[in-house]
Amino acid sequence: MGIYAVTGSASGMGAASAAVIREAGHTVIGVDLRDADVLADLGTAEGRAAAVAEITAASCGTLDGVAAVAGVGPAMKDAGAVASINYFGPTALLEGLRPVLARARAPRAVVIGSNSSSTVPMIDPTLVDLLLAGDEETAREHARIAQQGVPAELAATSPSISAYATSKFALARWVRRTAVRPEWAREGVLLNVIAPGAVVTPLMLGSTGTADDLDADKFPTPMPLGVFGAPEDIAFWVHQFLRPEARFTTGATLYVDGGTDAAMRPDGQPTALTL
Ligand code: NAI
Repeated sequence: MGIYAVTGSASGMGAASAAVIREAGHTVIGVDLRDADVLADLGTAEGRAAAVAEITAASCGTLDGVAAVAGVGPAMKDAGAVASINYFGPTALLEGLRPVLARARAPRAVVIGSNSSSTVPMIDPTLVDLLLAGDEETAREHARIAQQGVPAELAATSPSISAYATSKFALARWVRRTAVRPEWAREGVLLNVIAPGAVVTPLMLGSTGTADDLDADKFPTPMPLGVFGAPEDIAFWVHQFLRPEARFTTGATLYVDGGTDAAMRPDGQPTALTL
């Protein structure tokens, strides 16, 4: 049986993912700010380095997979922190763990993005470039500036919506760029993204109220299936991507969002290649 690291294991989708992986008979190294095997703040460079070192030690140098689930939502006030936690958290952790992943027989990594990356019309291209360039300090500063352009009504409930959507956009793009590099693809380390839509977790309820208040037909974005997601709906796909049998998909983004992205951008995919 394998050894898997799951970030954000104390709550929501991370807790559900850890449970599914454990039920399949594997060992899970949970990583979170609290209630986890590895306590680390993935919003800081020191926390990420400590997490990489502790996961490496706990896995005895061979890690079968990583589910990078930890993250925050657009209700967080500090847009700079959102960029650090949601972009640099998973990317630095995965870069740091790639060598121990490469030692496994069928290594897999999956990252939780968001359908906000394609359904929120507030992606800041400068911030995307700064994130992908790895310039954390400048990205943090710019994330705060980018947020100033958000309409006041929206900023009141989602004070970091632009930084949130942009960090998830850059994360998905990082996965596409990274997954096909030889040190990942030719080492057999497969890397994919899941883009959830509205999933009922403490994070979502923090911005929308109690579960009883939720009505999919009154949600601001279309919900074709008429229901919200549960953490288990995401955990199912996290587990599928981590299985050794999932061996011919890398660099992909899977929308697990009840059809929201397809409803908002029916012709958004596929994108034609132009000469
Ligand atoms: P949650 O709040 O239930 O769980 C997130 C976990 O991440 C928590 O246990 C939290 O302590 C941990 N975490 C946050 N900041 C951290 C840090 N700096 N270092 C280490 N751990 C940290 O939230 P949920 O909904 O399960 O979120 C999981 C992921 O899904 C996040 O990346 C979120 O952005 C993403 N997401 C959530 C959606 C939703 O509707 N709930 C929609 C789309 C994406």
